[in-house]
Amino acid sequence: MSTSPQPPAYDIYDDRTESGWRIDGYPRTFTRTPDSPRVARALTLTELTGPFGLHRRLRVDTADLSRVRPDGQRAQGQLIVVRGRVCDEDGAPIAGALVEMWQANASGRYAHEYDEKSLAPLDPNFIASGRFVADAEGRFSFTTVKPGAYPVPDSGHWWRPPHIHFSVFGPSWMARLVTQMFFPSDPLNPADRILASIPDPAARDRAVARSVPTTEGRDDALVFEHDFVLRGHRRTPEL
Ligand SMILES: [Fe+2]
Repeated sequence: MSTSPQPPAYDIYDDRTESGWRIDGYPRTFTRTPDSPRVARALTLTELTGPFGLHRRLRVDTADLSRVRPDGQRAQGQLIVVRGRVCDEDGAPIAGALVEMWQANASGRYAHEYDEKSLAPLDPNFIASGRFVADAEGRFSFTTVKPGAYPVPDSGHWWRPPHIHFSVFGPSWMARLVTQMFFPSDPLNPADRILASIPDPAARDRAVARSVPTTEGRDDALVFEHDFVLRGHRRTPEL
């Protein structure tokens, strides 16, 4: 008897745990979000099971963004380690999850054409983005410098708090998460319009990393832990 693959079941998240689609003062949210309500449709096996083996098809980077070369000068700013786990809705590790990240440098400047108007300096010793593969326990770790805060142009003095952008791929397109990680107790966090657009405070907390006591970390870097839950009602909010 042949058995056809069954779509995996998962619980649907609550809209109160998600960020707002349109953020006042953040113009691009108005150009990349739909005007019409979403339409439910049946998922296909392609979306539920693929893509396969992304980590074998894409370049995987060095896990140290703080230097362009191992023997090169270190980037400016506070050296930090970000480590954590990628999990499914049951807390089970997702081995081989693809973790991509990008961030501003210590001065709050992105090495990207969209940020060319910034007066903050670029740092030639900083790599600023990376792609890593989670191990068999779903764990990832990379070294970088703490990103600086930056003002959002023409927004009426809104400053983004230090944050790191992530795109995480689980075992299928339906388990892809695009989000941002914030730093604990930053005074700019409560006023951030993107973080504050998540109605549920517990979901907002899931976007904030945990500071590891310095006695448990490295001698030369502050350590932050941050887990990603890709699906379900406890998932990490999309940001
Ligand atoms: Fe950003």
